[in-house]
Amino acid sequence: MPDPLDHAADILRAGGLVGMPTETVYGLAADATNADAVVRIFAAKGRPTFDPLIVHVADPEGAWEVGEPTSRARRLAEACWPGPLTLVLRRRPGIPDAVTSGLDTVGVRCPDHAMARDLIRRTGRPLAAPSANPFGFISPTTAAHVAAQLGDRVGAILDGGPCTIGIESTVLVPDPQPVILRPGGLTREQLEAILGEPVAVADRQARADSIALPAPGMLASHYAPRTPLRLLEAGEPWPTDPTVGRLAFGTPLPPGGPTEDLSPTGDLAEAARTLFAALRRLDACGATSLVARPVPATGLGLGINDRLRRAAGLG
Ligand code: TXA
Ligand code: MG
Repeated sequence: MPDPLDHAADILRAGGLVGMPTETVYGLAADATNADAVVRIFAAKGRPTFDPLIVHVADPEGAWEVGEPTSRARRLAEACWPGPLTLVLRRRPGIPDAVTSGLDTVGVRCPDHAMARDLIRRTGRPLAAPSANPFGFISPTTAAHVAAQLGDRVGAILDGGPCTIGIESTVLVPDPQPVILRPGGLTREQLEAILGEPVAVADRQARADSIALPAPGMLASHYAPRTPLRLLEAGEPWPTDPTVGRLAFGTPLPPGGPTEDLSPTGDLAEAARTLFAALRRLDACGATSLVARPVPATGLGLGINDRLRRAAGLG
């Protein structure tokens, strides 16, 4: 029986796909330098080819071979990697158009999961990996989620345990001014403290309109459960109809339908970690519709609310 990591690295070097654990969500990995392999990712996910992929590297040196570092990028890499931050950098030759959807920039990150970095090193290549879910569906935070949805389309799935962050990385354009394209596992507050300057958050709708190239995180239907989900208005009471599933955050709810509490103690890190699995359970519980209440919009709450809005089909 070969070592599972060596086996997975062999599959990747041969142009195949591997389910890869990271600290944020599980990724569907392929050799980022092999255009044919990268095209297989899009086919397996049913993902439109205009959505660029993130390239995963084992260390900052590997990142600078994929994209051109700037002074801000180097500072952020030093402070945040390995970790849930994707930097959008000017692309270097060697990364095919299939990865970046033809853009002259590339998203790069060094994941904070020893198995992922070990896999990258053993493969000897940077790995392109989107979240390992069918396009538009809820992201996977366990190996079982990947197996259930993409098991027949991958050469192997590495089980690295449940993801410790639970929502995707923060995607940041560092220059000329730092702008968050997708809020995620590294908070705006953390970025501002590291950089010592304000960090803007892109208005997704404005960006989608202006570049006419919706990146995956920008499509309103992303992360959606199959059961319709609606966000409660501020002050709107929780429904008590037994057919309505409820996604709560730390407040006791009146008796009613199936309920998932993201964090009984009101901890945003716990809520991020449990969000996608809780959505999956509610989606499978037989409720005819789901409701959720946005969490406080600070720290990880920005990324959680972003996923909730998109799960509800909002921008
Ligand atoms: O945490 C994560 O980032 C996970 C794990 C597997 O690393 N990956 C992930 O990939 O979420 P995906 O494909 O589901 O999301 C990729 C995001 C999109 O929101 C896209 O807009 C952004 O990365 N992105 C990638 N390359 C980009 C580029 N060149 N310019 C702008 N945005 C880019
Ligand atoms: Mg995704």
